[in-house]
Amino acid sequence: MKIPKRLEPLIDEGLIDSVVCQLMSGKEAMVYMVRCGNDFHCAKVYRENSQQHVSHRTPSFGGRRFKNSRRLRVIEKAEYTAYRTHLDQEVWPSKEVEMLCHLGRSGVRVPKFHNFFDGVLLMELITNSEGQVALRLSDLVPTPKQARHYHKILMKQIVKMLCAGVVHGDLSQYNVLVDSQGPVIIDLPKAVNASDNHHARSLIKRDVDHLTAYFSRFAPELAQSDYATEIWSYYQRGKLPNAVLTGHVKVTEDNDSAPVNVSDVLQMINTAIKKEIAWQQHKQSKLANQLLHC
Ligand SMILES: Nc1ncnc2c1ncn2[C@@H]1O[C@H](COP(=O)(O)OP(=O)(O)OP(=O)(O)O)[C@@H](O)[C@H]1O
Ligand SMILES: [Mg+2]
Repeated sequence: MKIPKRLEPLIDEGLIDSVVCQLMSGKEAMVYMVRCGNDFHCAKVYRENSQQHVSHRTPSFGGRRFKNSRRLRVIEKAEYTAYRTHLDQEVWPSKEVEMLCHLGRSGVRVPKFHNFFDGVLLMELITNSEGQVALRLSDLVPTPKQARHYHKILMKQIVKMLCAGVVHGDLSQYNVLVDSQGPVIIDLPKAVNASDNHHARSLIKRDVDHLTAYFSRFAPELAQSDYATEIWSYYQRGKLPNAVLTGHVKVTEDNDSAPVNVSDVLQMINTAIKKEIAWQQHKQSKLANQLLHC
């Protein structure tokens, strides 16, 4: 097919040889099958206005945009270091790239990352046993047994993601492909860090509930389960990696009903207050120093 404009830089760079076809045009991106040597890969082209797309040419920091080196020179050293760290850790790799690499390393079934160039993600093309592009879960009609099996696998994948500190945040039958070995999770730009995102708990509940509602169309007994509460309860108690899920929440002595040790809690609060006071003092003395040198 004709090379879409956004893929031309990848052709020029020799990252892809040709574009075979468009697979999908979604809300956030257009997805193509591309040929690279003897292999076929998947190219996800983020839309220019997409929330997730971050141009690597003019990254923003603290609401400002830096386009030239003159502007960079006047940034204070410390701020510049922070700016570089910000570029390296958060801006250059898009959220999806970061997640594909991190989750792939953590053993979650996601497409293998190949490259990220000019707002285009190159990744493994998920195919079925005949080599054709894999179908989405939403396009399959599983038997009740298959539905229970896939549901179980996906709950384990959600647990693996959470053990790696991540909640997908947009999981549903539309963001899961099925290859010969089972479900593969895609579309990760909305993923959040489980430990510092206030919405992590509600997002994981939404992810689990979407999948459970879908599979319970084929295996109605799944509708009675509550994996989200069970998974989160194990996670909060630091017992997720060894958890054996049942889909039902057991309240045991060592969690919710166990008596609280008030003196331990007070000690933790005291330590936190001391740390906060020390931090405020440090900030004030730094500011006073800066004013002295003005
Ligand atoms: N690695 C892949 N291998 C095969 N097909 C893929 C792959 N990644 C995405 N696709 C196809 O492209 C579609 C859109 O991909 P994705 O969900 O990542 O983009 P999106 O723009 O967020 O789409 P949507 O708005 O529909 O969620 C998928 O539903 C799937 O059919
Ligand atoms: Mg999607």
